[in-house]
Amino acid sequence: MSVTMKSPREIELMREAGKILAKVHEELGKALKPGMSTYEIDRLGEELIRSFGCEPSFKNYNGYPASICVSVNEEVVHGIPDRRRIIEEGDLVSLDAGVIYKGYHSDAARTHGIGEITEDARLLIECTRQSFFEGIRYAVAGNHLHQISNAIGTYAESFGYGVVRDLCGHGIGAHLHEDPEIPNFRQLRRGIKLRPGMTLAIEPMINLGTADVVWLDDDWTVVSEDLSLSAHYENTILITEGAPEILTLTESEIAAGV
Ligand code: MF3
Ligand code: CO
Repeated sequence: MSVTMKSPREIELMREAGKILAKVHEELGKALKPGMSTYEIDRLGEELIRSFGCEPSFKNYNGYPASICVSVNEEVVHGIPDRRRIIEEGDLVSLDAGVIYKGYHSDAARTHGIGEITEDARLLIECTRQSFFEGIRYAVAGNHLHQISNAIGTYAESFGYGVVRDLCGHGIGAHLHEDPEIPNFRQLRRGIKLRPGMTLAIEPMINLGTADVVWLDDDWTVVSEDLSLSAHYENTILITEGAPEILTLTESEIAAGV
């Protein structure tokens, strides 16, 4: 598949898909409480997505059995919601979700600390989020894709964190995963030239310890090999002539200048 450039009409639909997903994340973040199961988070997430007239894009994607990926502590991504998995005070909970609005996708992830978390955990979440913003400073038409990758990786590695290499960000649009692949670490090649109308899902996944990951027997859940804590931050963005437009932020996140 080649890299697609979106028309003004497609961009409008992706903006709407993005706004809706931002609200879903906001509501899920408010709902997260100790004692809740990861299954309940998925149920609430799917309900919210459908209440906005959207479809959950992850459900049945390559056989994934839920609408929200819920990954706890050492789980990096693609945790499968489970009635028996109960969220506890001190946990790190990464929520990854995607919606389809009138045929167009948005994709975003947030990591939440539950109640009191350690300072190490707080810094990991903050740095993972910041690495995304370091990366998208280069997400401008005329630049090359891997300038984004380099900036994310260099920033996160400067803290001694393990930047996950086995999973990448991606183009997004009429499909959840489109070209190009977007690595989160330094590349030898410069990557494609960025053009206005490209829409990208940029998603650093950062571990407190080793960058190495393993897949569990459920064939989905990715965990850090040393079982160290992991954080994830993802937004869908639009390349413009100037600063990129982040499609998956809430009004209040935009107002806060995140
Ligand atoms: N944000 C993840 C990704 O871009 C979500 C995919 S999970 C799946 O790969 F369940 F849909 F596979
Ligand atoms: Co994604």
